[in-house]
Amino acid sequence: MSSVVIHGHTFKPKISSSEIQKAVAEVAKQINKDLKGKQPLFLAVLNGSFMFAADLMKKVNIECEISFVKVASYEGTSSSGKIKQLIGLNEDIKGRTVVIVEDIVDTGNTIENVWEQLKALGVADIRIATLLFKPNAYTKTVPIEYAAIVIPNDFIVGYGLDYKGLGRNLEDIYVLDYENDKK
Ligand code: IMP
Ligand code: MG
Repeated sequence: MSSVVIHGHTFKPKISSSEIQKAVAEVAKQINKDLKGKQPLFLAVLNGSFMFAADLMKKVNIECEISFVKVASYEGTSSSGKIKQLIGLNEDIKGRTVVIVEDIVDTGNTIENVWEQLKALGVADIRIATLLFKPNAYTKTVPIEYAAIVIPNDFIVGYGLDYKGLGRNLEDIYVLDYENDKK
């Protein structure tokens, strides 16, 4: 793996696709154990979670459904905090077990917002599965049950995550190379 340049910024390799796959398999194992018989509905939050959702679902072997929703936009290298409405939810989710599938939980603004909207719709049990979790940036109290990989407060791209729209297609995860980055 070598560095990549996105919008003029250098990102260096951080987490290989094989490490990602191992972490995803661990989360799937835990979910298979915890949610057997509950017929959970996985709600993947687009765009960022599309790769994680696909790989996770291939390893979830209990009876379940998956659907896709959208929330808000995110621009630049820090959270905007401007969260929009949940869109694309057509299922009747009252009384169900719902697993929110996210790419990354940073400040937690997005996940708290989604959580509150699902609670208001009468979901019985809400779980969060996220590929990446930044505990040092997290300011909320909503529990993050299934965090595949815990990372420090760095800005990362790849495996679904973008920097201003680019980098989502990278198979591995890269981190902004602050030292070699000429701003
Ligand atoms: P939060 O609302 O602060 O938790 O941020 C959640 C959203 O911000 C994620 O779904 C991502 O779209 C975006 N985000 C947060 N950190 C990063 C990062 O390091 N790289 C790319 N996107 C990020
Ligand atoms: Mg996102």
